[in-house]
Amino acid sequence: MSFSPKIELHLHLEGAAPPDFVRRLADEKRVNLSRVFDERGAYSYKDFEGFLRTYEAATQVLRTPEDYARLTREVLERSRDQGVIYTEIFLSPDFCGGRDLSAWREYLGAIEEAASAVDGIAMRGIVTCIRHFGPDKARQTARCAAETAGAFVTGFGMGGNEAMGTARDFAWAFDCAREAGLGLTSHAGEFGRPASVRDTLDHLRVSRVGHGVRAIEDPALVERLAREGIVLEVCPGSNVALGLYAKIEAHPVERLLAAGVDITVSTDDPPFFHTTMRDEYDALERVFGWGEDHFRVINQTAARAAFCDAATREDLLKRLEP
Ligand code: ADE
Ligand code: ZN
Repeated sequence: MSFSPKIELHLHLEGAAPPDFVRRLADEKRVNLSRVFDERGAYSYKDFEGFLRTYEAATQVLRTPEDYARLTREVLERSRDQGVIYTEIFLSPDFCGGRDLSAWREYLGAIEEAASAVDGIAMRGIVTCIRHFGPDKARQTARCAAETAGAFVTGFGMGGNEAMGTARDFAWAFDCAREAGLGLTSHAGEFGRPASVRDTLDHLRVSRVGHGVRAIEDPALVERLAREGIVLEVCPGSNVALGLYAKIEAHPVERLLAAGVDITVSTDDPPFFHTTMRDEYDALERVFGWGEDHFRVINQTAARAAFCDAATREDLLKRLEP
């Protein structure tokens, strides 16, 4: 059984690039990516920081708006084939013109046009700063987000290495995005401790948290998440692949859900983690016995938490009715 239709809220555009796609671009542009792949042709990394390095190395082949248009088509077609009808994708001005606003507009235009040409799946963009690039670059990224906020760019977020700085260092960027009317989410409680989630809620005032799973280590924080209706973008396969949990059986998603936390399920960077949306759902069914009712609830939660307009939300909720 794989429940459809699905809503995915946490997917990085570059992180969703299949290895073959990246190799094809590398061949075309004569870029040497030998460190990026292992001997079997899969993305190569040993730990979280190694993953971030490989991820950034692979982006070297993504040089033009047309490259991003091709990537967007590839990623959306794959998501649609997994039964995804609505997806929010993290877009990074850092890789799309180095946070220069006019270059960013060109990349974004190409991405949006490509997205509108793929039938059967709707996409919104979450402009994302990269934490380990530091607060100054995050501010520039937030300006790019604010200047292009609208029907397609509907959110602002932060990924990258959670060990870099504190949430408060990024408050200006999130304030700027909030004032532009963008929905807010930030990675936290992935490799950072529960205090990182608490700081993220206090200083960045997000409605959603990327991962957030380590909140399980602090019962008072779990209670707060449930009470405040904070939505977690949980990516179980990502957490296992990056070594946060030894196996899915040890993942806290079931305990968080049982504690009343609003849970959604996504893939994060599927080819890096050898996963797909169907794989995630299948694992949750196999390990935790989740059935149709569970999957309907997590997708309804995703529809309610989506950074989209009211008509789109209504349409998504209607399509999730039994
Ligand atoms: N960027 C892409 N994937 C990420 C992850 N799992 N955590 C932090 N930053 C990321
Ligand atoms: Zn992520």
